[in-house]
Amino acid sequence: MYRAAIGGRAGLRAAASGVIRHFLSLSDAGGDAIAAMLGDAIDRKAARSGWPKGKADADAPLAGHTLGMIFEKNSTRTRASFEMAIKQLGGDSMFMASGQMQLGRGESIADTARVLSRYVDALMIRTDDHAKIEELASHASVPVINGLTDLSHPCQIVADLLTIVEHGKALPGLEVAWLGDGNNVLNSIVEAAGIFKFNVRIAVPQGYECDAAFIETARVGGSTITLTRDAAEAVADADIVVTDTWVSMGQEHAHNKIAAMMPYQVNEGLMAAARPDAKFLHCLPAHRGEEVTDAVIDGPQSLIWDEAENRLHAQKSILLWCFDKL
Ligand code: CP
Ligand code: NVA
Repeated sequence: MYRAAIGGRAGLRAAASGVIRHFLSLSDAGGDAIAAMLGDAIDRKAARSGWPKGKADADAPLAGHTLGMIFEKNSTRTRASFEMAIKQLGGDSMFMASGQMQLGRGESIADTARVLSRYVDALMIRTDDHAKIEELASHASVPVINGLTDLSHPCQIVADLLTIVEHGKALPGLEVAWLGDGNNVLNSIVEAAGIFKFNVRIAVPQGYECDAAFIETARVGGSTITLTRDAAEAVADADIVVTDTWVSMGQEHAHNKIAAMMPYQVNEGLMAAARPDAKFLHCLPAHRGEEVTDAVIDGPQSLIWDEAENRLHAQKSILLWCFDKL
């Protein structure tokens, strides 16, 4: 039932056989592979319903494999879900905080990639400049996964797509409204829109726009991307309403930015303009009273806890794709 909702399989670029399957962006996998990830995640999630969380899936497909995880920024969900994802697939993880690595005192990314590729079977990194993850991937001899950069957050969006499909909404033709800051999470939503042919209406204040290259690629892919300064216009008849923190990691908590964002707060009044069956998503962590009110994030339309849980199920499928098992 869910598979029909995933819709078109318009892959931008499927990884060629024999090539290391890095997952730096959604387009590294493409539509066919992401559709396969969603289907696999739905099946695995159902198959282990009620099991203890630390028990491996029956097939333990990544037994003997270790995922190295480098964090240059804080994380709750990405770290915990990747650790449990590889464990449920039968493998192990290794957590590395960059400040405690030689990377943190000047060892190059290239040398770090070469060395860690000798110890682990895949690497996940959360970093700031997207160029750093590209550098890591270009020197690693194992798959590299983007656990968030200042440019994008593709793992989050696989979980978001899974949540949307699970809750009975088809991706093609879906109307998604984004409110607030034009950040890394929005860039990946727009990238997904071009792949799965859904539409995004973006309401952000002047100076906080989404990356233009992502918008252009999505439009070429057949998605309608609408840019507006009017929050009510963005949410009108929307199927999904999404927001994120107004101040991303590494950004200054500037009062003028908060003031500019206030008209884009997702509150009950704004949600009322969306479709009656609209759902609310937020990647978390949330700043209640800023980008979203308690009434919305804790309200009946909010899917945030399923969305957070689905990071685990999505991560497992991303790992399997990287290891050429999907
Ligand atoms: N959504 C998300 O990436 O959360 P963390 O920052 O806690 O990993
Ligand atoms: N845009 C946020 C996402 C956190 C998961 C950030 O980059 O901090």
